[in-house]
Amino acid sequence: MPNHSNPFINPLIFFLIIILSTLFLSSQSFEFVYNGFNNSINLDHAEATIIKPSGALRLTNNSHNVLGHAFHLTPIPFFNNSPNASSFTTYFVFQIVPSTLNTNGGFGLAFTLSPSPEFPGAAPGHFLGIFNSSNNGNLSNHIFAVEFDTVDGHNEKSDTDGNHIGININGMDSTASKSAAYYVEGTQNHEEQVLLEKEGPIQAWIDYDGVKKVVNVTVCPLGVAKPARPLLSEVIDLSLYLEKNMYAGFSAATGQKSSSHYILGWSFRLNGIADPLDLSQLPVVPVEKSSRSAVKVRKVLIATFSVVIFILLGALLSIRFYQRVMKFELLEDWELDCPHRFRYKDLHKATKGFKETEKIGAGGFGKVYKGILPATGVEVAVKKIMSNNPLQGMREFAAEIESLGRLRHKNLVNLQGWCKHKNGLLLVYDYVLNGSLDSLLYNSKNGNFLTWEQRFNIVKGVASGLLYLHEEWEQVVIHRDVKSSNVLIDHDMNARLGDFGLARLYDHGKNSHTTNVVGTIGYIAPELARTGKASKSSDVFAYGILLLEVACGRPPVKYELDRNVILVDWVLECMKMGNIFEAVDAKLNSMYVTEEIELVLGLGLLCSHPKSEARPTMRQVMKYLNGDEMLPMFDKLSSAGSRRVDEITSRFLALGLTVVLHLQHRTIPVL
Ligand SMILES: *[C@@H]1O[C@H](CO)[C@@H](O)[C@H](O)[C@H]1NC(C)=O
Ligand SMILES: *[C@@H]1O[C@H](CO)[C@@H](O)[C@H](O)[C@H]1NC(C)=O
Ligand SMILES: *[C@@H]1O[C@H](CO)[C@@H](O)[C@H](O)[C@H]1NC(C)=O
Ligand SMILES: *[C@@H]1O[C@H](CO)[C@@H](O)[C@H](O)[C@H]1NC(C)=O
Ligand SMILES: *[C@@H]1O[C@H](CO)[C@@H](O)[C@H](O)[C@H]1NC(C)=O
Ligand SMILES: *[C@@H]1O[C@H](CO)[C@@H](O)[C@H](O)[C@H]1NC(C)=O
Repeated sequence: MPNHSNPFINPLIFFLIIILSTLFLSSQSFEFVYNGFNNSINLDHAEATIIKPSGALRLTNNSHNVLGHAFHLTPIPFFNNSPNASSFTTYFVFQIVPSTLNTNGGFGLAFTLSPSPEFPGAAPGHFLGIFNSSNNGNLSNHIFAVEFDTVDGHNEKSDTDGNHIGININGMDSTASKSAAYYVEGTQNHEEQVLLEKEGPIQAWIDYDGVKKVVNVTVCPLGVAKPARPLLSEVIDLSLYLEKNMYAGFSAATGQKSSSHYILGWSFRLNGIADPLDLSQLPVVPVEKSSRSAVKVRKVLIATFSVVIFILLGALLSIRFYQRVMKFELLEDWELDCPHRFRYKDLHKATKGFKETEKIGAGGFGKVYKGILPATGVEVAVKKIMSNNPLQGMREFAAEIESLGRLRHKNLVNLQGWCKHKNGLLLVYDYVLNGSLDSLLYNSKNGNFLTWEQRFNIVKGVASGLLYLHEEWEQVVIHRDVKSSNVLIDHDMNARLGDFGLARLYDHGKNSHTTNVVGTIGYIAPELARTGKASKSSDVFAYGILLLEVACGRPPVKYELDRNVILVDWVLECMKMGNIFEAVDAKLNSMYVTEEIELVLGLGLLCSHPKSEARPTMRQVMKYLNGDEMLPMFDKLSSAGSRRVDEITSRFLALGLTVVLHLQHRTIPVL
């Protein structure tokens, strides 16, 4: 007989081989453990995900709208020649740290099984870096995820609780979801809430029974043993959704709200119980910005608060100080209604505190400073009028200034506004570039010599401005102080008459019977000197003197050879001598239009006629200057017969004497 030593061996071996092979085939083993993520070369992480030096896997930082992925590099063979997906268990410890202490952070993380470890075009926020609005819910995604979400779901019907756990298949509408909690050991139904963001490290188990087709999800804080009863236990046949090879890993995202999402350790096993983690080896979440920055924020808040209090106290004290020392700008009610009123503070700033270097002139009424308005950068001239006594009748005066502020003419230095300060008054005017006419006539430094053409244009301009004041505005404005130093010359060499109406100020608050004459010696009409009553006609008189001044290049009164030479007399004398051109400014060097010189001299004499009724109005003056009317009596002065000249001069001198006397004995009114 052949060796039939053991007839049972072959069947036994055969049986064993069958058993082993079926075991092997049906429960192919696949497992891994991450006790922290130091040197984890098998982990593929992308986007915001990094491994912290401590070994913690940080899926996202706490910036807004970031997402991160970390997947085990080797795909898991879920179907082992079987129509049914294999059982698996996975266990991990995660921690969610909200961006700011005491407030909720945002969005969450998800354990994910996916055919690919990459998620091109996936969106952050509600989509957790797995899906986007276009592929959300599409069956061809083949994605299984368990989300640990900290914000109300994107679809209120399913993910209502902000702090929840859900099972998601192919999209963010959870198949099942529950508020994060665990069932306490020994009690069947007592749920203990788990606050995903605040609890510190949290353990999670996801178990799938490939035979019973049940997915169990369990969570509890680190330090608590795995609860016997899972939070979620859902019948789901993953065979319907998973593909042959699946990548296991985590996805996380932040949105408008944000948190840092960490995985501290992770184990996985196909067809078996995932290995426990060595909890002593688990990394600790770095004390990160969140909590540290909260402390910092608190410190900063306290510091800021103290500084603010300090500044407020300081401001209060300095206001007190300012009020006491500087006498705060107290406004009377009526002042608030004046649109042309400036704030003293602004004018003070504009003129650099009325610095001497900013002074551009000083006249009878006060010093003039150049200033740049802080708000607009506009150049202005600020006239500072100081008075030893408080200005009386300020209210009426302000009304008048307000109305003067509305005067606008190209040949006027427009008054922009005013400001009352203590006993003083500040008037804000247009800044005019080239200075005053008298300085150009007499101090012709740096070759600032006025040609005849310019002079003729200037006297026309002054006439035009004066006409506007006398007749063209809504009310008559008497200038009261027409003189060459009140005529400013702008960059186009046009005349601009300044200081109009100002003299009225000095009438206010003074007893009417002690009216002072205001004006400048040499320009004061005889009747004004006698009666102190200014009129349009007295303005015309002063304008006449100005005409002579411009033509002759001489001031109205000049101290020469031990005596005062009166300009009018001088012109009349030249006329008597039969050579009117003798009177003309030698600097012009005969470069002038004869007719115009005659006109200006003649008109000057006519305007400065001692009898006010003999003087023309400014409208007539304009007509003469424009050549619309011939000047009576004075035309052709140079060629007039001696009889005619005598007639004129005698008429003139009859009254002229009184003029001269007046001029010689007038004193400048003391203000
Ligand atoms: C967070 O991660 C994103 C993506 O990597 C990055 O652009 C951002 O600067 C990070 N924010 C901080 C605060 O580190
Ligand atoms: C990971 O590395 C950090 C420092 O590099 C170390 O402190 C930590 O203990 C390491 N963790 C593990 C689990 O080896
Ligand atoms: C697959 O699952 C079905 C039940 O869903 C079961 O009847 C069948 O035996 C399973 N097949 C294998 C090979 O385990
Ligand atoms: C959505 O995701 C899919 C697949 O990841 C991608 O192909 C598609 O471009 C994405 N759509 C948008 C709008 O980003
Ligand atoms: C699902 O995705 C596939 C491929 O990405 C696409 O062809 C299909 O149209 C999508 N289905 C729906 C309902 O969007
Ligand atoms: C899922 O949980 C149920 C109890 O709810 C338990 O009977 C079952 O064994 C669990 N399955 C797995 C795979 O853990």
